[in-house]
Amino acid sequence: MKLTISILKADVGSIGGHTKPSKRMIDATEQAVADAISSGLLIDGYVGHTGDDICMTTTHTRGPNDTDVHQFAWSTFLKATDIASQYGLYGAGQDLLADAPSGNIRGAGPAVAEVEFDHDPIKTNPVRPAESFFVLAADKCGPGAYNLPMFLGFADPMYCGGLMLPRLDQGFTFNVIDMDNTDGDSIISLNAPEDYYKLAVLLRDNERFGIDSIVSRYSGEMAAAISATRLHNIAGSYTGKDDPVAVVRNQGIFPAPEELTSPYAKAHFIGGDARGSHVMPLMPVPINTAVTGMYCLPLVSCVGFSIAADGTFSDSSIDFFDNQSWDHVRLLAQQKAIEMRSQGWSGAAMLPYGELEYSGFRQSIGDLVDRFAFRNGHGAEVPEKATADD
Ligand code: 13P
Ligand code: 13P
Ligand code: MG
Ligand code: MG
Ligand code: MG
Repeated sequence: MKLTISILKADVGSIGGHTKPSKRMIDATEQAVADAISSGLLIDGYVGHTGDDICMTTTHTRGPNDTDVHQFAWSTFLKATDIASQYGLYGAGQDLLADAPSGNIRGAGPAVAEVEFDHDPIKTNPVRPAESFFVLAADKCGPGAYNLPMFLGFADPMYCGGLMLPRLDQGFTFNVIDMDNTDGDSIISLNAPEDYYKLAVLLRDNERFGIDSIVSRYSGEMAAAISATRLHNIAGSYTGKDDPVAVVRNQGIFPAPEELTSPYAKAHFIGGDARGSHVMPLMPVPINTAVTGMYCLPLVSCVGFSIAADGTFSDSSIDFFDNQSWDHVRLLAQQKAIEMRSQGWSGAAMLPYGELEYSGFRQSIGDLVDRFAFRNGHGAEVPEKATADD
């Protein structure tokens, strides 16, 4: 069968500030997923939260961008929003930016990542005898939070020794999206390894360029899909951070989970954190972690699944970052965060002016820029031009 994995995530309200959704909100989302499975819309579903973002991992046979699946997600997020409003939670409905999108909900606020493939492990798919994948969900993060770790996991044998194996050594195609182009999805396809440096040229800019998808050059199968949109481009003003999700298939013709998660041991610096305006380390956390530590560290969770022949998976989830070895990285992230924040607002600790463009910071800066005047009233006049006769 053609199976689709759809990851649908939104921040629609949280307790005591932007920490985590309430239990009632999670219960309502789980109930909606259970109902959608009963009605036959979905084959299976899993609900978790990362910080204050609710994430649904679902399987079905309707393909990506399916109106019914996306409308289900929208109405489920609306139900959770109603609960958030009823109980006075912070930021109720924050990521639901459109009034009522009629078809798919891409570009309407929620983060969406979807992958479709032939799922027939028993009979006919020799390159994929078993389907395993994981879901990354980030909170307090800029849109390119996965640029570096995905690049290292899929293109650099220093992180993924599997790239030296037959099949994987044919490399991967990276489809990169220009998130500043609001006319539509503007994509460039670059191949690793030969376009390695060109990929670095783009992916270094986490705020403008994001990996949209990654495809195996051996099989043509999609390995990963990532939500890469900028909320402030959709809303026209700051409405919270972009907080991308990703679905990543692993093992066999793709890198192994440990090859794909090891780059997160860096706790690399990204844009995000408090008011979405700082440069802070990305901290790997277990699923259902609240944002309550010092500062407002960017978080990422990683839950893995195997899919049975009938497309079900929820009996077999595994939490990759819920392991003592990641405690070391969490401490590293805290240390890096303390170092960076010791310089407060100065220079590299906060995002550059262009990235603050649509937030209240822009207004604060703009009001002051308007008050600048030339010293002693001089300098404003244009000096007379020298002529050839002078
Ligand atoms: P197992 O022997 O446990 O399957 O481990 C294999 C492996 O290659 C891990 O990357
Ligand atoms: P959220 O996107 O989770 O609402 O975070 C926004 C923020 O600005 C935190 O300070
Ligand atoms: Mg929030
Ligand atoms: Mg959030
Ligand atoms: Mg957000």
